[in-house]
Amino acid sequence: MKLTVCLLASEAAPLSKTGGLADVSAALTKYLSSAGHDVRLFTPLYRSIDRRKLAARPIDGLQEFEVGVGSHRYVFSVLLAQLPDSTAPVYLVDCPALFERGTLYTVDADEHLRFLAFTRAVFISCQRMQWAPQILHCNDWHTAFGPLFLQALYATDPLFAGTRSLLTIHNIGYQGVFASTAIDDLGLGPKNYLLHQDDLRAGRINPLRHGILYADAITTVSPTHAREICTDEYGMGLQDSLRARGSALSGILNGVDYDEWDPRNDRYLPQHYDPDSIGIKAELKRDFLARMKFEVDPSVPLGGIVSRLASQKGIELMFESLPQVLAWRDFALVVLGSGDPQYEQFFTQLQADFPGRVVFRQGYDDELSHWIEAASDLFLMPSRYEPCGLNQMYSLRYGTVPIVRRTGGLADSVEHYNPDTGLGTGVVFNDFNTEALEWALNTALDLYAAPTHWARMVRNGMRRDFSWNRQGGKYVDLYERILA
Ligand code: ADP
Ligand code: GLC
Repeated sequence: MKLTVCLLASEAAPLSKTGGLADVSAALTKYLSSAGHDVRLFTPLYRSIDRRKLAARPIDGLQEFEVGVGSHRYVFSVLLAQLPDSTAPVYLVDCPALFERGTLYTVDADEHLRFLAFTRAVFISCQRMQWAPQILHCNDWHTAFGPLFLQALYATDPLFAGTRSLLTIHNIGYQGVFASTAIDDLGLGPKNYLLHQDDLRAGRINPLRHGILYADAITTVSPTHAREICTDEYGMGLQDSLRARGSALSGILNGVDYDEWDPRNDRYLPQHYDPDSIGIKAELKRDFLARMKFEVDPSVPLGGIVSRLASQKGIELMFESLPQVLAWRDFALVVLGSGDPQYEQFFTQLQADFPGRVVFRQGYDDELSHWIEAASDLFLMPSRYEPCGLNQMYSLRYGTVPIVRRTGGLADSVEHYNPDTGLGTGVVFNDFNTEALEWALNTALDLYAAPTHWARMVRNGMRRDFSWNRQGGKYVDLYERILA
């Protein structure tokens, strides 16, 4: 069955990206489009997006229309473009007053309004195009009011009579909470009773919670994380609402866009490789070590990190374990990331303490992130929680052994290597503490010193397939189930 799917996402790669949501919204759109569905991805036209380079064109009937949120009025226009290197349509929602800012996300007082207005603008765009989506697929807190708006504000419009909603939670750590004094900004009027009353009494409104309460189905980005978020340990205060919706909640592991992330065709690499030409990886590593001014022999194992530097990512586990392991073992490390100043400070200091062996690049750099995947031997992701995680799956493809904690999508995509059976794709540890990470690092370095095991583990990983052809089909199955 050909489906009409309206996808709402606050970021879409390569146009706008702070993390994995961007990769996933773009790749899922491309998958659905190539599978013949009428999918339309709506995303804000941020200042950093170059509309000319995209050849974005204004859509008739969607120019300079007004969107009211509470007492606020904004003027919106919508432009149509194609996701780069594909024919998948992306609808760029333009509102300079809201999206011409220095960063995608802000701590400005109107942050909630930016995305409430965006969500409302998408409904109005559908109405003006007279386009009836069967599926309204919202992502994360930014668009999580979609399902409630559908029910409370648009139910009377026959256009949406057949529309069912899905909320995908990519990161439960960000819920978009704002003060209940802004209640009128929702524009729900007499339907305010539909809001979560306990939260209101406590003085707050939680967008993500309303997505959980009102979506026809809820997914998160791995089966393990779907179970985790129903627990007190991982639910981040939303576990009760999630448990209440239990049967509507499921996990679908993210796919990997192998057009973007595959050493066979990586646009940033001067040479390409696959499991049968793994020698090229060693050549790329040699070039990389020289370019980054490492002072180590190319035979020394190189660890890589590419990450938002946030507490989610388990950086504090490295505070003691990395200096220890670097002091005792032959090991080099390259880190790319930015975020929390205390973590940036830690890596700056580590680089100073181990000159020529640790290189830290503060910032965001697409090209370098691909090089790190290709040139490293190991990749570190000791996350506190990880809904899915993409870099461990990229690493597998690049023959870069992931060291991960057994949580969320890391648990679902990496199997601990067993030297007795020769099965497994990485090093997996359980406990969230320094000793466990140190154990994992040492275990990985021991395996690196045993070339037969290492080659086997690398090969096992490179053979794994996380393509969207598989994972995308699971979304289509779910869409069909909620429509049935
Ligand atoms: P999250 O969404 O929690 O940040 P994921 O592993 O799902 O984690 O996705 C992170 C994505 O962002 C990956 O594509 C990764 O390569 C990219 N990324 C993260 N930090 C940087 C950075 N500093 N420079 C370039 N890419 C980055
Ligand atoms: C999030 C999660 C990450 C996931 C990504 C895309 O930000 O932290 O684990 O892979 O979204 O779904």
